[in-house]
Order: sequence, then C-alpha cells, then structure tokens
Amino acid sequence: AYEKKEQPEVNIGTAGHVDHGKTTLVYSLTGIWTSKHSEELKRGMTIKLGYADGGIYRCSNCPFPEEYQPLPECKECPSGSEPELLRRISYVDAPGHEILMTTMLSGAAIMDGALLVIAANEKCPQPQTFEHFKALEIIGIKNLIIVQNKVDVVSRERARESYNEIKRLIEGTWAENAPIIPISALKGANIDVLMAAIQKYIPTPERDLTKPPLMHIVRSFDVNKPGTPPEKLAGGVVGGTLSQGELKIGDEIVILPGMKVKKSGGREEYQAIYTEVTSLRFGEIEVEKALPGGLLAVGTKLDPSITKRDQLIGNVLTIPNNKLPIIDHIEMEYHLLERVVGAKEFITARPIQAKERLMITIGTALTKGVVERVSSNVIEISLSKPIVGISGSRAVFSREINGKWRLAGWGILKL
Ligand code: GTP
Ligand code: GDP
Ligand code: MG
Ligand code: MG
Repeated sequence: AYEKKEQPEVNIGTAGHVDHGKTTLVYSLTGIWTSKHSEELKRGMTIKLGYADGGIYRCSNCPFPEEYQPLPECKECPSGSEPELLRRISYVDAPGHEILMTTMLSGAAIMDGALLVIAANEKCPQPQTFEHFKALEIIGIKNLIIVQNKVDVVSRERARESYNEIKRLIEGTWAENAPIIPISALKGANIDVLMAAIQKYIPTPERDLTKPPLMHIVRSFDVNKPGTPPEKLAGGVVGGTLSQGELKIGDEIVILPGMKVKKSGGREEYQAIYTEVTSLRFGEIEVEKALPGGLLAVGTKLDPSITKRDQLIGNVLTIPNNKLPIIDHIEMEYHLLERVVGAKEFITARPIQAKERLMITIGTALTKGVVERVSSNVIEISLSKPIVGISGSRAVFSREINGKWRLAGWGILKL
C-alpha cells in the first residue's frame, strides 16, 4: 500500500547516554544533522527531539553487507548502478542528557523500534543507558537493536569487554535477544550491517487504515519567514506521526484538547481546534494522502500564531466525528520501578505517597500531576493539564529526586 518513493513507513528512535553518538549515527544513516537550534549547536548536545528521514537501498550487484546503502547511487559499483529502495524511514533522535528524560519519553511514544546507542569507550551501563533501556521497555518497544558505537577509539580487548558488559545488561530481560552491532558512527564504519539489521529486526508494524486517523503531535510551527505580507501567510503546520487511519488534503480535522482559553473569573479551559488539511509533507516530499508511519507535517488553515513554537505539542489530531474523551484525572493499576534509575548513586525507590507531585507522559503529552490516592497497586492522579484519553495507552510517570525527574513507574489507561 505504501508508495515507497513517497513516504517513510516506520519510525526508528535513538536512545542512550549523553554523547554516545546518537545524533552522529542519525547523520551517518541519513546525511542530516538533526541538531539545528543555536543552543544545541553551542553546547554540542541534543535538547529537543530531532528528526530526519532516510532510505535503505540494496544494490543487486554487491555482496552482503556492502549491498545495503543509504543513498540511491551505489558507491561500490564502478558503473554506478541504481540500488533498489527497500524502505523509507523516519528517525527520531532523542536527547541523552539526564535532565531531558521526559523529552526522551515523549519521543519514545512515536517510535516503532529503537536503536540503543552505547559507546564502547565507557563502562556500560552509564546512568542514561540504563534509564533509556528501562524507558523503552515501559513504553512497550518490542524491536530493539543495540548499537555499540565508537569502536574506532577502543582496543580489540576493550571492544570485547564492552560487548560482555552489554550482554550482562540485557541478560534475562525483554531485550535478551537484541542484536548488538559494532559501528563507528563518526567514521561511517559498519553502517551497512546496521541497515541490514534494521531491515531484519525492525519491521514495519501492521497498521489499521480503516480506523479514523489519529496523530500524536510532536511539534508545531509557523513556517512563515519574518516579514511575510499577510496575504501570503501560510497556515499553521503541525507535525507528528499517524498511528492509524489515513489523512487526505481537504479533510476536516480536530486538534484535542486544543487551545487554552481564559474563561470569566480567570478559569482556564481547553477548546478543541477545528480546521482543514491544506497540505501534507514528509520531509521535502509533498503527498495528497498520508498513511501511518513517518514524520508527517500537516498544513492547515489555522492562524500560525496558534501553532508557532511547538505550542501544540502533546495534542492529538483526528477527525471531528471520532469522539475522544478529554480527561484531567487518571486512575490505574501501576508498577513502580524497584530502584531509582538514572542517577549515578544507588537509591531505593520509596513507595509513592498521596500529595506527591509527578510528571506524567501519555503519548507525546507531558503534564504535571498530583497523587490523589494511592494503594500498593492502584494510583489516582489529577493532572494539571487535560489530555486525550485513549484506552490502552501507557502512562509513564517520573518523580523528582534531588532536583531531577527520574523514570519511576507506569500503568495502562483504562477508560
Ligand atoms: P546527546 O544528544 O547530547 O545525548 O549526544 P549524542 O548521543 O547525540 O552524541 P553526538 O552524536 O552528539 O556525539 C557526541 C560526540 O561523540 C561527538 O563529539 C561525536 O563526534 C563523537 N562520536 C560520535 N560517534 C562516534 C564514533 O563512532 N567514534 C568516535 N570516535 N567519536 C564519535
Ligand atoms: P524548522 O524545522 O523550524 O526550521 O521549520 P521548517 O521551515 O523546516 O519547517 C518545519 C516543518 O514544516 C517541516 O517538516 C516542513 O516539511 C513543514 N512544512 C513547511 N512548510 C509546509 C507547508 O506549506 N505544508 C506542510 N504540510 N508542511 C510544511
Ligand atoms: Mg544528540
Ligand atoms: Mg552530544
């Protein structure tokens, strides 16, 4: 059903400790450097989620693994033969810094599979290696590839030792059989083997096209250059990924919970935003119809001041007759991690207490919440910002420990 040349069909995320080479890996897979913001460039670290589309091609004249290539021209064949496009992929590049854990979590909500990047020159697991590994499990990622990076700067012995540390990390866990691929993202070494593994271990999930479209919004933009005259202004753009259904130009859509409005008496309320799809884009590629998978930019008739600067992150886009509940209170069975992960020091997790403040990630939405009631297995939380309640979606909560939000537990929403 996918027009391969047009849209990416699967989202693959990066995860792993700060500076282990996630952004460099996405660059070697796509030729795109996802860190764009001045602060990111200055500090050499990913702060917001990064995005890049790439392809995996296969050259029929080349042996394994050289046959796997990131570009439509074969760099191995003298004749420059044209490799076949196997799949287009959207990469979601997560930040590794410990203070950005909640950003990683909302990125993980749109990943179909993940690359856990572990640098061979540091002892494994580093704190966020472990925290992200746990997060991927909690979010329910099934398809994982472990990428052992920076093998260009370690000895053969250290590479083996690092491999054994990784093996010990995954032993007896959900990811026990995940492949471990040694690479150098910086030198572009073994990227072909990694692409072969992506083809084998991260298949495109089955999607239900008969359901109403559902898109979790991960960014929103005003795409107009400063100084554009009013008659030339383009409408607001929202970005995300369709998890089900399809979307066409001209479709009527609704964005939920929508926009914050002030009511009389200073009360705040959220108001659904109704509009129409005016354009659909995957990276630079314009399409008439979008299917699930890949990072989609939806052009709308909205005033761009509503969509500018990521204001609609965490909203859900669907069609008006798909009635979804908006909730500001959740009650669910929950699981608490036994120990606090992500910190350098070892800390046992205290039980959750009534009145405790938590950070909740549901889909791509992030909100603070206060525990109303809690027993050993059921928790009730009131949310400071309403969210779209989708039964069966995972709610992940983080708690503040010594000033940082740490992954703490999770539950599944039942409405
Ligand atoms: P955060 O987004 O801040 O978590 O970092 P990151 O995981 O995206 O790491 P990034 O790609 O920014 O790389 C961090 C540093 O490691 C940079 O200086 C890279 O050049 C270097 N690096 C990445 N991959 C390799 C590699 O394979 N070999 C060597 N020697 N250096 C690498
Ligand atoms: P930046 O990422 O903040 O630099 O903003 P860009 O100018 O790159 O655009 C942001 C996103 O909006 C990208 O995904 C673009 O593909 C998308 N985009 C830009 N213009 C349009 C448009 O007219 N229609 C649609 N559907 N998407 C657009
Ligand atoms: Mg990065
Ligand atoms: Mg970095």
